[in-house]
Amino acid sequence: MITILGLSGSLRRHSFNRGLLRAAAEAMPEGARLELGSIADIPLYDGDVEAQGIPAAVAALKERAAAAEALLLVTPEYNNGIPGVFKNAIDWMSRPADDIPRIFGAKPVGVIGTSPGRFGTLLSQTAWLPVLRTLGANHWSGGRLVVTGAGGLFDQAGNLTDAATRARLRTYLADFVEHIAGA
Ligand code: FNR
Repeated sequence: MITILGLSGSLRRHSFNRGLLRAAAEAMPEGARLELGSIADIPLYDGDVEAQGIPAAVAALKERAAAAEALLLVTPEYNNGIPGVFKNAIDWMSRPADDIPRIFGAKPVGVIGTSPGRFGTLLSQTAWLPVLRTLGANHWSGGRLVVTGAGGLFDQAGNLTDAATRARLRTYLADFVEHIAGA
């Protein structure tokens, strides 16, 4: 069984990206499962806090990432970049630096996302590339899922209601899992 740890970069209860992450868990192919991780308990990075030890929520998320065969980042886009809360969580997970290879090294990482606008999360997805390269992770570029016009695809609770998007998600995940299995 292939396990992927999925993280959404939005804390919002009815977040479209959290909804996309939940939909991804339901759209996984046979032989693979998506675990839902959360960045909600990750504190703001502070080197003084780190000097006292890695916070428990960070350590727990790191272990879940280490145990997973791959990661799926479901990223919103803020001001054409990565939302700070999401980058903050990954920054914490990169500490201490000598643990980076264990958590991220050569790990397949898929990046998808959704926004209400016409460009989806194209720019924030691209903004993840130098971060993943720095961490030594293997960004998977064999598929792309940029979900535009989120307002018409999710209900008030942030649940994906659009069948065409669900089908695109299923294809993306099937191809990603096939890549992981062959990696
Ligand atoms: C946004 N939003 C946004 N959308 C986009 O497509 N490109 C952008 O550059 C931005 N910039 C931006 C900045 C800030 C500070 C906020 C709060 C929002 C809109 C954003 O896509 C929208 O709020 C989504 O609903 C956020 O994702 P979740 O929370 O629904 O997952």
